[in-house]
Order: sequence, then structure tokens, then C-alpha cells
Amino acid sequence: MVRPRSTNKLILFLAASAAALLAAYLFWSFDAEVTALLQHRMGASPSPSADTIVKVVKLFLIGIIAYLFVRALNALFFGLAYQLKRIDAPTLIRNIFTIVAFTILFLIAFTFLFPEVNLGALFTTSAIFGVILGLALQDTLGNFFAGISLQADRPFQVGDVITVGAQRHTGVVEEISWRAIKIRTFTNHVVLIANSNAAKEPIEVCPRDNLNARLVLFNTLYTDSPAKTIHVAREAVRETDNVSDKIAPIVRIRNLGDNGVDYEVKYWLVDYAKYNDTDALIRQRIWYAFRRAGLNFAFPTRTLYVERPGRNAQRDGDGGAVVERLSAVDIFAPLSADETSMLAQAAVRHVFAPGETVIRAGDPGSSMFVVHKGKVRVQVSENGRPRTVATLNEGDFFGEMALFTGEPRTANVLALEETEVLEIGHAAMKRVFDTNPDLVESLSFIMAERRQGLASQSEDAATSTHSSAGILSSIKRFFGI
Ligand code: CMP
Repeated sequence: MVRPRSTNKLILFLAASAAALLAAYLFWSFDAEVTALLQHRMGASPSPSADTIVKVVKLFLIGIIAYLFVRALNALFFGLAYQLKRIDAPTLIRNIFTIVAFTILFLIAFTFLFPEVNLGALFTTSAIFGVILGLALQDTLGNFFAGISLQADRPFQVGDVITVGAQRHTGVVEEISWRAIKIRTFTNHVVLIANSNAAKEPIEVCPRDNLNARLVLFNTLYTDSPAKTIHVAREAVRETDNVSDKIAPIVRIRNLGDNGVDYEVKYWLVDYAKYNDTDALIRQRIWYAFRRAGLNFAFPTRTLYVERPGRNAQRDGDGGAVVERLSAVDIFAPLSADETSMLAQAAVRHVFAPGETVIRAGDPGSSMFVVHKGKVRVQVSENGRPRTVATLNEGDFFGEMALFTGEPRTANVLALEETEVLEIGHAAMKRVFDTNPDLVESLSFIMAERRQGLASQSEDAATSTHSSAGILSSIKRFFGI
């Protein structure tokens, strides 16, 4: 059976006390005999030195008993303080208490045994004694006072994670004694840093009751969308154990690297001392989340793109989806399959990040857009504040007003999430109008409706509302139909 350490200590303490008391009792009982024996051996009568030897031994025994007594007092006093008030006194304070109490008891015993020695005079007049003591205790006293200043300053406490000095020893503070700071590293080694060294070195402190942050790095291929990557990684991190829910983790692009897009995750820990495990768990969670979301880590690669003249690889790769998207747009419903496919070939795909502006009010414009993936918001500025006019989803189109009338853009259009749009230019639309003159009419109705939406709350409603007939004729004029 393994006994707890405190029980072992108590048994050891009781045994040592019993032995010391027994030794003292025996010595005191036989001190006359011992003095006589010593005098006899030393051959002088009466011998003051035999008497002194006996007194020194007595002082030694009293010293041991005084030390044990002070230790017991220490445990009782500070143990009681912890039991009653939950005050856990620092080791340094306990040590100072032990040293002071022991010194007092020892000096009392000394003056009692050696009344003829004037201790005050001994300490004040003995310059050599002072120098010797000073030199011998130089380091010890340096550590002692640095320890006191650390306790007074309290830059860190037991349980905090600290990194000390140029060698960057990192670990959890276990004890601050009169000599050193004891830290337990994350490989379960104990490192002792002398207080006087610690006082000179920079110390990085991660307090236990503080939300400390960490950075974890990862990367993805350039083809993986940042908005999707950030969303997937953030959700994965948020659900990891020991990640604080008080501050949402941040995932952001750190660098556009050689092999891929480099990201960093900044997250806050509940228990900072477990940061190695948490970092590892986060990397693991991101791996699985990426697997499910079809995202890819970038490893050192060189990708060779061979461009074939006259072919747009991106468009070819997903051309079917573009044709499908355009044929689902209501204004293009009357177009034949060939016309839709011609329009799809002419369409250029663009991706916008959440919050990016696709169209800015007042800019000139000669193309229209179809929302292929995502969502956009149409906004106008009213009295200096943005007013949302409409939200357009996949299959909706925008930007037709400037394209068909030649006027500047009437509103701002912003991507609400990662959004892919298909841009169709003037030339392609003209070809469509040439073969489908009816299209102009249906477009003019939609545009008239949209203009009304734009103007309904605007101050200059009168100037911006147009009838569909007016719009129709201006489109025809602009396209020369
Ligand atoms: P354009 O003026 O070229 O640029 C801004 C675009 O916002 C505009 O074309 C329309 O496509 C779109 N828009 C303006 N008002 C509305 C509205 N009321 N509803 C939907 N879309 C609109």
C-alpha cells in the first residue's frame, strides 16, 4: 500500500521529534557525568572548555528541537489559515516565518546558555564577521530579496504558465521559495530558476484566471474559397474542448504563401496550461471538417498550368451549370438552347467575398450580372444612410439598367455572402435582342418596376420614375433596334 506523502511526512516528523527529545532528555540527565568525563579526559580541573563543549551540544539539541517546533507551528498556523479562510500562504512567507521564529528561539537559547557572551557587541563590532557573512551569503541574500520583491509585486502566482529568460523555459509555476521559482514544464520536468536570475530576465506570464489566446496555423490550396475555409475552420474550432465560448475564435488569412493560402486561428483557452493538447485537437478537428467540406490542405507542390489558346478552362469545366443557371433566369426563358449556350459562353464568372461591392452607384456600366451562387443586396444612399432596396438570390439578375440605357449605375450592389456572378456584356445582349425583340419589352417592365422601388422613398421620386414605355424606347434607341 502506498501511503500519502503528508502521512509519511507526519510519521517522519514525529519520529524525529521523539528522537530529539529523547536525546535532549538523556543529555540533560547525564550532563554532570559527561562534563566530568570530558574534564577527566582533557586532564585539566576545572576545565572551562569541557563545560563549553557540553553547552554547545545542548545548544545544538535545543536548535534541533526549536527547528522541529517551528516547523510544527508553521504547519499549524498556515494550515489553520488555509482551513478557515482558504488563504494559501506562499512558500516564501512560510520560509520567512520559519527563519525568523527559529532565529529568535535560537538566540534566546544562546543567551540562556552563554549569558557571558554579548551577542549585540559580537554582531556590531565584528567587521570581519560581517564581511565573511556578506560574501558567503551574497547569492543567497540576492535570491532572498529578489524572492521578497517577487512576492510583493506578485507578477505571477502558483498555477500560472510562465516563460522565463533567453532559454525560454515554459511551464506551470509550482512554487516560489526564498531561493527559486519552481516550474513544471510540459514534458513534466522541473526547472528551478534562481529568484535573482528571474528578477533580471523578461518573464512572459499567462495568468491562470485570464483568457489567454493562442495561434494555430494551417493552409489551403489557392482554389479553396477563403470565405468557406474561414467559416468551416471557425465552426470546427468553436466546438473544440477547452476553447472558451466567451470570445469567438478568429480565423484569418495570414499570408498568400508559396504553396497555398496561409491562415491563422486565434482562439482563447479556458485552461491555458493545456494549450499543447488544445492546439493538437484544433488541428485534428480542422482536418476532419476540411474532409467533410471538400477543402484541401496545401503541401509543398508546384502546379503547372498549360494554357491552351482560345479555351477558357474554368468555363469549360463547369459550362453545363452556367447554361442551366441562365436558362432558369425568367427573362431568358424565351431564348432557344443555342442562344442560351451562346450567352453562357460569353458570360464571365466572378467571385466576390462577403461584404464586397459588385456594383457602385454612379459608376458607368456596360454589362449585367446573374447571381450564380450566393446572395446580393441592392442598396441606395438616402440622407447619407444606406437603404436596402432588394435582396437578390441565385437566378436573379442585376446591372441591367446601366447596360440597357447607358445611364450610370443606379444603386450599390453588395455580396451578402461569398457570391459568384455571371457577367454578360453589351455585345452578347445585343445579339440576343436582335433575334428576340420581345425580350426588350419584358425587360422594360421589370426595369420600370425596379425604378419605382428605387424611387418610392427617395426625395427626387419625380425625376427617377419612368414608365415602361419610356424605358422601352430608350433601350431600343441605345441598342439601335
Ligand atoms: P444598374 O443601375 O445598372 O446598377 C444597379 C442595379 O441595381 C440596377 O441596375 C438594378 O439591376 C438593380 N436594382 C435597382 N433597383 C432595384 C430594385 N428595386 N429591385 C431590384 N434590383 C434593383
